[in-house]
Amino acid sequence: MTENKIGFSKLTKEEKINWIANQYFANPKEAISVLNQYQNSNEALQKLHDEFIENTLTNFYLPLGVAPNFNINGKNFTIPFAVEESSVVAAASKAAKFWGARGGFKTTILGTEKIGQVHFLYEGDKQKLKEYFNFIQPVLLTETEEITKNMQKRGGGISKIELIDKTEILENYYQLHATFETKDSMGANFINSCLEQFAKTFKNNSENFGLPSIQIIMSILSNFVPNCVVRAEVSCPVSELNEDANITSSEFAEKFVTAVKIAEVEPFRAVTHNKGIMNGIDAVVLATGNDFRAIEAGVHAFASKDGKYTSLSHAKIENGIFTFWLDVPLALGTVGGLTNLHPLVKFSLEMLGNPSATELMEIVAVAGLAQNFAALRSLTTSGIQQGHMKMHLNNILNQHQATKEEKRLAIAHFENQTASHNLVVDFLENLRAK
Ligand code: MEV
Repeated sequence: MTENKIGFSKLTKEEKINWIANQYFANPKEAISVLNQYQNSNEALQKLHDEFIENTLTNFYLPLGVAPNFNINGKNFTIPFAVEESSVVAAASKAAKFWGARGGFKTTILGTEKIGQVHFLYEGDKQKLKEYFNFIQPVLLTETEEITKNMQKRGGGISKIELIDKTEILENYYQLHATFETKDSMGANFINSCLEQFAKTFKNNSENFGLPSIQIIMSILSNFVPNCVVRAEVSCPVSELNEDANITSSEFAEKFVTAVKIAEVEPFRAVTHNKGIMNGIDAVVLATGNDFRAIEAGVHAFASKDGKYTSLSHAKIENGIFTFWLDVPLALGTVGGLTNLHPLVKFSLEMLGNPSATELMEIVAVAGLAQNFAALRSLTTSGIQQGHMKMHLNNILNQHQATKEEKRLAIAHFENQTASHNLVVDFLENLRAK
């Protein structure tokens, strides 16, 4: 039986599981039992998850951890992180405590503008197209009123529609480039619905205006949101910066600023530097039910907006004050999408005080800055492996079925030396040989 013949999507969930198990696994019973141990015994909850996507077989768990003690603009937060990488939550917690004692994190919303485009081809006279656009622009707004009326009640809507000539980069290529304010929703459905209506209105009226050659190619929001940006910042006197006895505060501050400068000028380093920032950002974005792929795509486009990939964060020392900040584009929502559907998302949002979208932007940016601070602090002092392997030690021990006592001995043994996979395996083998 091949996948095509059976019409996989038409099978029941149980039939899908059986088919997969029999098709691909040496031991189908074992494969089925692996899948089934992740099914939720609460049928309604399982059904909810089954219906988020298509062809669901089971659930794929990620740990949900929390980092307390975040002081953001004078308010205290415990931030949820959905992430599989050990040491991310520990690093966030440490950075939160550190900056909590130094005035906390400050944030500023630099913009909330979202963007969408109707991409089309047109072969005729440019002036005529401009005239048509001037004529049709108010009609584009009236014909989307049905879609925009609720958003307008919330203070959002369509901010601007422009005709953009892109024929220099692609023959006959133009855009309707629109900007939107979507308040507490991420706005993807709202924007795409408006754009599809723009496209219809724009095409339908064009022949009467004597422009028969307009060809709509597609209508879609952009995940590049360089004007939907939040800044997160920390600062303190250089003299208060350091807690490490092996380095002075000013040496540490200088080294830290240099490490950031390296990420600003060197793309190989910038990518890893920003990856560390995304460790924090993605984890909170996921826990709060937002689209981390959209955020990732937008963030990296933003990091290269001036033609070269660079650091998202910056640092300086001025008049004895160390300042470290991050500007990051975050098109987030706290209503709509998964936010009202996924029980853990609802939990995370309530724990954060049911933030508005802009408040969530602030919290997420702070999580990114905290991660970046923690990573750079380790990298420029003890090195990353000491802390990372301490956290990863438990994973290695679990992988080798260490008992409770073996774990206790291993943790004590690696307290003051950096663990590696081989060293942990050697340690366990020696222990077991005794
Ligand atoms: C690892 O997940 C993240 C780091 O590589 C970030 C960085 O190098 O700044 C530690």
